[in-house]
Amino acid sequence: MDPSKWIDVTVDKNHYSLDHFVIPKHYEQDLSSILIPHGVIMDRVQKLARLIVDQNDGPLGGYQYASDLVNCIKKLTTASGHTVPISMEFIRVKSYENDQSVGVNISLTENELKDFEGKNILIVEDIIDTGKTMVALLERLQQYKPKTTKVTSLLVKKTDRSNGYIPHYVGFAIPDAFVVGYALDYNEHFRDLDHICVISNDCGVRAG
Ligand code: HPA
Ligand code: MG
Repeated sequence: MDPSKWIDVTVDKNHYSLDHFVIPKHYEQDLSSILIPHGVIMDRVQKLARLIVDQNDGPLGGYQYASDLVNCIKKLTTASGHTVPISMEFIRVKSYENDQSVGVNISLTENELKDFEGKNILIVEDIIDTGKTMVALLERLQQYKPKTTKVTSLLVKKTDRSNGYIPHYVGFAIPDAFVVGYALDYNEHFRDLDHICVISNDCGVRAG
């Protein structure tokens, strides 16, 4: 995606004070600011669904984004007037790093992966950080000969550690900070937070 089409929230003035929106009381000490309020996330997801349906006739194959995106896609029709048939698979991906290479371990079985042959795949991710896991996943999936593979990520982190990978559909470019909320967690915390927020330095659940 052309970076001019993302919403760039990497500039400090874009942050909202915790006072501006409702935050679960038990998280007030743990967060420093709201980066993307829930309403803006939902409006942006609607636009990404529109772009995806406009550019993909289907069928098409971080759970909060995936679930909200699919809900939006279901309501839209393509230029040729039909809804996009969707089937969903949840892939759990683990990447391993050593000094030589990055390997990626996919939780689907060989049999399930073989079903991807000839299909249009849309990988839905909540955040791209270094990009290494996504590049490794895409390489692995190519073995199973999908017809097309596209990637959408709600967030792309602007970080020096990035390998430069850019998905086809991006919601927001975010600063190099640890973010939580909208199903992004820190050790399983903050899953019930709707807004995407920056964790505070003295966050109670933060190790060390
Ligand atoms: N927050 C939550 N999960 C993540 C992040 C982040 O900033 N980066 C990679 N995974
Ligand atoms: Mg994720």
